[in-house]
Amino acid sequence: MSRRPAVITGVGSYVPDEVLTNADLEKIVETSDEWIVSHTGIRERRIASDEQASSDLGTQACIAAMEDAGVTAEDIELIICPTVTPDQFFPTTANTIQANLGAPNSAAFDLLSGCTGFVYGLHVASQFVGTGEMDTVLVVAAEKLTSITNWTDRSTCVLFGDGAGAAVVQAGEGDASEVGMLSFVLESYGEYGYLLDIPAGGSRKPLTPEALEANEHCLRMNGPELYKIAVRGVPDVAEKAINKAGLTNADIDLVVMHQANMRIIEAAARRLDIPDEHMVVNIDRLGNTSGASIAIALDEAYRDGRVHTGDNVLLVGFGAGFSLGASVVRWEK
Ligand code: ACO
Repeated sequence: MSRRPAVITGVGSYVPDEVLTNADLEKIVETSDEWIVSHTGIRERRIASDEQASSDLGTQACIAAMEDAGVTAEDIELIICPTVTPDQFFPTTANTIQANLGAPNSAAFDLLSGCTGFVYGLHVASQFVGTGEMDTVLVVAAEKLTSITNWTDRSTCVLFGDGAGAAVVQAGEGDASEVGMLSFVLESYGEYGYLLDIPAGGSRKPLTPEALEANEHCLRMNGPELYKIAVRGVPDVAEKAINKAGLTNADIDLVVMHQANMRIIEAAARRLDIPDEHMVVNIDRLGNTSGASIAIALDEAYRDGRVHTGDNVLLVGFGAGFSLGASVVRWEK
């Protein structure tokens, strides 16, 4: 069956105004600007207000992406929202964003795949568009990580920030092997799920006063173990996606990786033999915004004029699951 090319026709992002610096964190837990910068590359991150939920951040990102693509709310046929911090378990955050946008013709669902969510979401969107089932799909990764942060755990609370990024995916013209999203590779290593989780609040361990007291409704992470897995897994999945697109590493013009740790970004650049200046970095300003980080970084790179028509852009995600995902996108805008 011949497939239509699936193309990113618009991008947008939103981060809250409030800035939390490393100096602010020094007042909350026993840490230092020197430790945070040298171990992660993070200098500050954005914090949503008490009134802002993930859907509010996501809605702003969608408005920007739709404007960029030149589509209206009526054009949207599906909203996919990758998030680990939904407003509520249900209705889904995508449902709420649909209502906020007033998109009457759209289906909506959330997608939970940790920090890899945006890459997973783009792949799902590309299937609907590629088969001809839909013409216009909105993927919006929206995260309020600070709502699941354990502010007494210095090994995690210094890492995260809030934000959202969105992409409009539509059918392009020409050969699907040469236009738009050229390749995807998605992987799961469920045996490592215990390294990054929220222990309580689900069907395995419903939330109790004791669980709440122990902060088990918050994110828990074995950073050093994940670090080792990520440093191995990221270049592997990236090379698989590059090969699947029929390209070599030298053909990649820009890499937009999940922003979890500057050292992981640098290690991936070395392993892939891709120059540092081809790596998009915003972790210093925004920290780790989980599923939203690739979407925000892609939008920033585009608006900064770093992505040009015809460029091969490599997207790489990794995170809770343990999940990995990579895609090579030929930029058509
Ligand atoms: N301030 C000061 N000291 C700290 C802090 C802090 N904020 N946090 C930890 N330390 C201390 C530790 O207690 C430890 O002290 P010790 O040697 O006396 O025991 C020392 O610093 C080293 O701690 P490590 O945890 O070994 O530090 P590491 O260099 O591994 O950095 C980090 C930790 C940044 C979390 C790193 O392991 C990492 O980035 N891991 C990968 C995370 C990741 O990729 N996760 C998946 C994606 S994220 C997602 O899906 C949401």
